[in-house]
Amino acid sequence: MNNKQRASSVHHHSTPCTRIHQIGALLLVAATFFFTRLFDNSFSLCNFNHNLASQNAVVRIPDGNGGAPSWPERGYGSRLSLKIYVYDENEIDGLKALLYGRDGTVAASACLKGQWGTQVKIHSLLLQSQFRTKKKEEADLFFVPAYVKCVRMVGALNDKEINQTYVKVLSQMPYFRRSGGRDHIFVFPSGAGAHMFRSWATYINRSIILTPEGDRTDKRGTSAFNTWKDIIIPGNIDDGMTKDGARMVQPLPLSERKYLANYLGRAQKKVGRLKLIELAKQYPDKLESPELNFSGPNKFGRLEYFQHLRNAKFCLAPRGESSWTLRFYESFFVECVPVILSDQVELPFQNVIDYTQISIKWPSTLIGPQLLDYLASIPDEDIEAMIARGRQVRCLWVYAPESKPCSAMQGILWELQRKVRQFHHSTETFWLHNKTIVNRNLVEFSYWKPPMPLP
Ligand SMILES: *[C@@H]1O[C@H](CO)[C@@H](O)[C@H](O)[C@H]1NC(C)=O
Ligand SMILES: *[C@@H]1O[C@H](CO)[C@@H](O)[C@H](O)[C@H]1NC(C)=O
Ligand SMILES: *[C@@H]1O[C@H](CO)[C@@H](O)[C@H](O)[C@H]1NC(C)=O
Ligand SMILES: *[C@@H]1O[C@H](CO)[C@@H](O)[C@H](O)[C@H]1NC(C)=O
Repeated sequence: MNNKQRASSVHHHSTPCTRIHQIGALLLVAATFFFTRLFDNSFSLCNFNHNLASQNAVVRIPDGNGGAPSWPERGYGSRLSLKIYVYDENEIDGLKALLYGRDGTVAASACLKGQWGTQVKIHSLLLQSQFRTKKKEEADLFFVPAYVKCVRMVGALNDKEINQTYVKVLSQMPYFRRSGGRDHIFVFPSGAGAHMFRSWATYINRSIILTPEGDRTDKRGTSAFNTWKDIIIPGNIDDGMTKDGARMVQPLPLSERKYLANYLGRAQKKVGRLKLIELAKQYPDKLESPELNFSGPNKFGRLEYFQHLRNAKFCLAPRGESSWTLRFYESFFVECVPVILSDQVELPFQNVIDYTQISIKWPSTLIGPQLLDYLASIPDEDIEAMIARGRQVRCLWVYAPESKPCSAMQGILWELQRKVRQFHHSTETFWLHNKTIVNRNLVEFSYWKPPMPLP
C-alpha cells in the first residue's frame, strides 16, 4: 500500500464525491443496519477507490470535534475493554516517596507543568478511568504511579534514593514477580526515559514503559526505549494552548506569517542545533531563531514563546532535550508544519498514524540552505492541506478527560489494550496440573509474601 492510499483512508474529504459514490451512498441508506456497519467499515461514503486492507490499518479520526476516533479493528479489537489496577500510595511502602519526595512535601499540583506533567496527568486520568479495576485478581495491567522526574528536579529525592525506593517498591509486589514485570506500566517523562531509575535494566526491563521520546540516550550509551514493548506518549503541551475555545494564542493566516521557518531553542552544544542557529544568522529573513531564556529578568514568557512559534510556516524540531521534542506537538496548535530533524525519532501511535500526512522528516545531516530552499518550494496550498490534516489528529496529543471522544489517553489505552495477555509468567513462575501458579519452591501464588526476591 502506498502513502496516498493511506492518506485518503484517514482523510475522507480528499476523495471527491462522484455520482457512483452517491448511488453507493443511496444503496447504503437503503440497506439494513448490519449492512451499513459492514459497508461503513470497509468503504465509508464517497471513499470507494482505496485498498481495503490499508483502511484497516489506520486510525480513523472524524472531522471536527464530534466523534471518537476508531482504532483499526486489526490488532486492536472493536472497542476498548481492559482492566488496569492502579497501585495505591498507601498500599506499597515507598510509593509515597516516589510521588511526593522523601518528606512528602512535593504537591502533585506543582508537578503538572512541563514535560514531567505526564506522570501526574496519566496517573490521575487512570484513577478516574472506567477501565480502572480495584481488584488485582481481574487486572490485565498494573500501573505503578511515580512523579520522580518532578520530585528529583526539586531536590526531594536524589538518584540514589530513586533507585533504592523503586527497588523497595517492586519487592512488595507479588504480581510484579508473577509476570517478571511484563504487565506493569511505568511512566518516564523525560529524555532520559527509564534511566531515571538507575538500575532499570535489571528490574523493569520487561515492563511497559511510557515515554515521550524514543530517540534519547542521554549520554548513557543505550536507549531505555524498546519500540516493540514500550509506548511513545505525546508530550505535555501547555494547557493554555490545548483548550477548545479561548487558546492563549490563535494561529495566524499563512500570508501573515513573517518567516518561512523557525527554530526556538537553546543550542546546548548539540551539532544539529548549532547548525540551525548558524543558518538563522545567514538567512535571518527566512529562519527565525530567537534566543530563549525562561528564567531571569528577561524571562521569555510562554505567551511570547507561542507568538514566535506561530509566526512561521514550518517549525523545525531538532533532536534534543525533551522540551524541544515538545515543539513537534505544539506545532499542531499554532498550526505550523513540524519539520523533524531527529533521525532516530519515534512518534506516538505510529502503528496507526501516517506521519507523512502531517509532518516532514528531513535528514539531520542535510541541515543547511538546501533545507530552506526545499521548504520555500512547497506551495501554500500543500501547506494548508497538511495543517488541515494535522488539525484533525491533534486531539490525540491532548491529555483530556475520558469523557472527550478523542484524547492522548484514548490512544494510550488502545496501545495498552494491544499488550494485554491472558497468561502471565516469568522464569520464577511455574504451574501445576490443577492450574495453580507456584514459585520455585512450589508455593502457591496466593501465599507469595513480600518482600519478593528480585529481579
Ligand atoms: C539500585 O538499588 C539496588 C538495591 O538497593 C542496588 O542493588 C543497586 O546497586 C542500585 N543501583 C545503582 C546503580 O546504584
Ligand atoms: C533484564 O534483566 C535481567 C536481570 O538483570 C537480565 O537477566 C535480562 O537479560 C534482562 N533482559 C533484557 C531484555 O535486557
Ligand atoms: C537567563 O537569564 C539569567 C538572568 O539574566 C541568566 O543568569 C542565565 O544565565 C540566562 N540563561 C541562559 C541559558 O541564557
Ligand atoms: C494443586 O496441586 C498441588 C500438588 O498436588 C496441591 O498441593 C495443591 O493444593 C493443589 N491446589 C489446588 C488449589 O487444588
